[in-house]
Amino acid sequence: VFGKSGSGKSTVTKFVCENLEGVSCRFVNLRKAKTVFGCANLILGELGEPSLKSAQGINLAIDKISIAINTSLKKEKSKLFVLVLDESDVLFYDKRGKPSDFIYKLLVMEEKLKEDGSMMTIVAISNNVVADYEIDDRVRSRIGSSEVFFAPYSKNEVLEILKDRAVAAFSKAVDPAVLEYCANLSSEEHGDARRAIDLLRVAAEIASGNGQPLATTHVDLAVEQVQKDRASLVLSTGSYHFRLVAGALAQATYVTGEVWHSTSTIYDLYKQIMRKGTKPLTYRRVSELLTEVENTGLAVSQTSSKGRYGYGTQYKLTVLPEVIGRAISTDYWKAIVARKEAVDKLKELEKGIRRLGRHSRFSL
Ligand SMILES: Nc1ncnc2c1ncn2[C@@H]1O[C@H](COP(=O)(O)OP(=O)(O)OP(=O)(O)O)[C@@H](O)[C@H]1O
Ligand SMILES: [Mg+2]
Repeated sequence: VFGKSGSGKSTVTKFVCENLEGVSCRFVNLRKAKTVFGCANLILGELGEPSLKSAQGINLAIDKISIAINTSLKKEKSKLFVLVLDESDVLFYDKRGKPSDFIYKLLVMEEKLKEDGSMMTIVAISNNVVADYEIDDRVRSRIGSSEVFFAPYSKNEVLEILKDRAVAAFSKAVDPAVLEYCANLSSEEHGDARRAIDLLRVAAEIASGNGQPLATTHVDLAVEQVQKDRASLVLSTGSYHFRLVAGALAQATYVTGEVWHSTSTIYDLYKQIMRKGTKPLTYRRVSELLTEVENTGLAVSQTSSKGRYGYGTQYKLTVLPEVIGRAISTDYWKAIVARKEAVDKLKELEKGIRRLGRHSRFSL
């Protein structure tokens, strides 16, 4: 199951699983895992099993998962087990943990269950298609995947979702203009229901904090607040290199005033702002990190074949660069701002000198 953020993948998949009769279902969100082994432990946890130590090996983890699934099927008297792995992208960030092998082992487990007369199906939810991930061919051909694409919501669909929520959430009716404003704002990039709901909630919190009736002005304030919260959450949980890559994009945007920046520009800047003595990641890995930045919703990308940006992918921030910069480090960002001010002053000075120069030529 794939699609952009806030397109209802998690919500709808969960809803369907909960409403399927005669099926045992476990829904595991892998976001908190750092490694493939961590993912296995999250699955075990959801099955009511204790965590294992990574030294105990992935094979034991798979065995335990398999036994727990069998037990659940017996207990729940069903023949079909559905394992939903939400935010399954996480698996592929752990290159050393051999994500491809792990999937292979899950598939083998599925086949063994079939021999025992039970069926199992795995639903993986992510922002990207399976083809985007590094999976061995032997695994890829076994997946036999059918992919379900969740298109972003239309503005009207977002509005419908908001109306439902507003009725459930507030004791008084909400001004329809407020709901429409939230729906419009959150459909600018792509119809994102989560963003719409967040905006409405935060706007209401601001309004009630001020003792005022909820109005569109509060939604404007909420946009700022949500951006800040989101950026600091994403950046505080991201790795050092993830922060650097996001910082490089923010710095390029702020310093040049340009909106789109190519992977190579960002890569060069990334290497510049890196701590002395740190080994830079490869270009390829940094472009993967840029995809991660995009997946968190802090940036969007476009791919152009020619034109002013040259070949390749360009990125554009969806939040103000200073929001990212300050979330990374206030000192870092202060230095960037000071440098830009100095450069701007220098440019003014240059202009002045040139003007004077021209002037003097005339007076000669
Ligand atoms: N069809 C819907 N009806 C009601 N609420 C919805 C619907 N779709 C999404 N929402 C709400 O929108 C929010 C975001 O949806 P959801 O978490 O399912 O998105 P997602 O596609 O999983 O996003 P991500 O890729 O970021 O995980 C949730 O709070 C959910 O309750
Ligand atoms: Mg989700």
